[in-house]
Amino acid sequence: MSFDTDITGLLGIRLPIVQSAMSWASSNVALPAAVSAAGGLGTLALGPMRLPEIEAAIAGIRDATDRPFAVNLPLYRKGAEEVMDLLERLRPPILVASQGGTRAYLERFRDLGTICIHTVASVAHAEKAAEAGVDGLVVVGGEAGGHPPADLVSGHVMLRAVKRRLPDVPVISAGGWADGAGLAAALALGAGAAAFGTRFLVCPEAGIPQAYKDRVMEAGVGDTRVVGRGFGVIRALRNDFTARMEMLEREAASEADRAAVFRGVTLKDVVLHDAIDDGKLEAGQSAGLVDRALPAAEVVAEIADGARKTLARLAQFTG
Ligand SMILES: Cc1cc2nc3c(=O)[nH]c(=O)nc-3n(C[C@H](O)[C@H](O)[C@H](O)COP(=O)(O)O)c2cc1C
Repeated sequence: MSFDTDITGLLGIRLPIVQSAMSWASSNVALPAAVSAAGGLGTLALGPMRLPEIEAAIAGIRDATDRPFAVNLPLYRKGAEEVMDLLERLRPPILVASQGGTRAYLERFRDLGTICIHTVASVAHAEKAAEAGVDGLVVVGGEAGGHPPADLVSGHVMLRAVKRRLPDVPVISAGGWADGAGLAAALALGAGAAAFGTRFLVCPEAGIPQAYKDRVMEAGVGDTRVVGRGFGVIRALRNDFTARMEMLEREAASEADRAAVFRGVTLKDVVLHDAIDDGKLEAGQSAGLVDRALPAAEVVAEIADGARKTLARLAQFTG
């Protein structure tokens, strides 16, 4: 089975299924390689990786599959310049940049022949990136795990707003899609592909502790919280950390007090020190739709099959 959209054509992939960049969870060879080999687009999350690890992981993905893959560079990360120098040498086929402007990287990588995709969470930023000449966009909606838009505009509204303004720009829609019906919906709303984060977070290939995956699978759709307004909001599973943040926000605590709690824990604490109750368990609302841990290749196949069935069902509604 294959799909033919502007994104599959641009990226050279068979299926319009993108595994979202997820720090730690997809900062390894296993997850992105499995997704790319299965016909989607795997994304290596460079955020928490050191230079030698990045070089080894890119070589590992290339050993594992000859299909296209992406690397995600959060532009605010420490040492982003050095990472770009390394990427210039390694020439990954696709760069997905996030958390910053296009100026830092666009000309440099476009000239190398790397496909440049920019991550945005507002119509204004989408327009700015398109004007600068990116090849495509990841448009993130309020349902998303990690960093949703600060105003929490939902993905289905945000996607259509962006497509109305930029009908010719290829868009990957991220946030809440989770399954085949989600992919079909994203395509119906104008996306050329859907990106899936939380759905891949529980795969055996994802590089996070089992206890974190268990919490994701146990969660209902109402079990995430958005905290950290003013410091780069995150959506995470509710736990002691989100309760503490919510209390400080309710009490209008000083910025310093809120920042101390928000910055006092990281996703890294969850991954390396099992801080399940008091760490940032980043996950999207779609955690409530994820209750099985299938290997990534099976997730890709299931999403593709579900989308095909949904589209066939919809076709029956019209003469
Ligand atoms: C654990 C976790 C880590 C994330 N890390 C990153 C990251 O390093 N870079 C990035 O651009 N987005 C990151 N995100 C956001 C995802 O790329 C994506 O936008 C989001 O997961 C999509 O929503 P969904 O989880 O509902 O599928 C992260 C999300 C999660 C859940």
